[in-house]
Amino acid sequence: MLEKPLFTEEEIKTRIKQLAEQITIDYKDKDLIAIGVLKGACVFFSDLIRHINMPLAVDFIIASSYVKKESSGNIKIHYDIRETIEGKDVLLIEDIVDTGITIDYLVKEISLKNPNSIKVCALLDKKDRRKVEAPIDYIGFDIPDLFIIGYGIDYENQYRNLPYITVYDSEG
Ligand code: IMP
Ligand code: MG
Repeated sequence: MLEKPLFTEEEIKTRIKQLAEQITIDYKDKDLIAIGVLKGACVFFSDLIRHINMPLAVDFIIASSYVKKESSGNIKIHYDIRETIEGKDVLLIEDIVDTGITIDYLVKEISLKNPNSIKVCALLDKKDRRKVEAPIDYIGFDIPDLFIIGYGIDYENQYRNLPYITVYDSEG
C-alpha cells in the first residue's frame, strides 16, 4: 500500500471544498437532505457535509452489489432511509459510480418516495465502465478503469481507513 496515491489527502480536501461550495449555492433556500450510500461513502460524506454551509438533514442507505472486484449487477438494500423525504431535496452521496447500476437503482427507488428533487454527488466517476445511463450532478474526479481503495473505499471491507486514494495492487 506504499504505492503513490492517485489522489492525496490534500487534493481530496481541495476538491471537496469546491463541491461543497457549489452545493451550498445550488441548494440555497431548499430543504436539503443528504443521503449517504454506505459503506463506501462514509468518509467522503462526513467530510463533504461539514463544508456545506446551510441547514441540512442527513440519512443513510446501505446497498451492495460488489463481490470481490466485480459488480454483481444485483443490488441489495440492507438498510433503508428512515426520514420522510416527501417534498424534500435529496442529494445522494456515493463513493464511486462504475457501471452505474447501483446509483440508477437507488435513484429510482428513492424517487418512489416523492422527494421534490433528487441529485447525485459522487467522489469518483469511472465513465468508461458505464452499463446503464446514470446522470451524476456533482463529480469529484473522473478516473480510468482501475480498481481503487482508500478514503472509505474498500477491497473486501479493508483499506477504508487510508486517508488517500490509491490503486489496489493485488501483489501488495
Ligand atoms: P456500480 O453499480 O457498478 O456503479 O458500482 C458502484 C459501487 O461499486 C460503488 O459504490 C463502490 O462501492 C463499488 N466500486 C466500484 N468501483 C470500485 C473500485 O474501484 N473499488 C472499490 N469499490 C468499487
Ligand atoms: Mg458504494
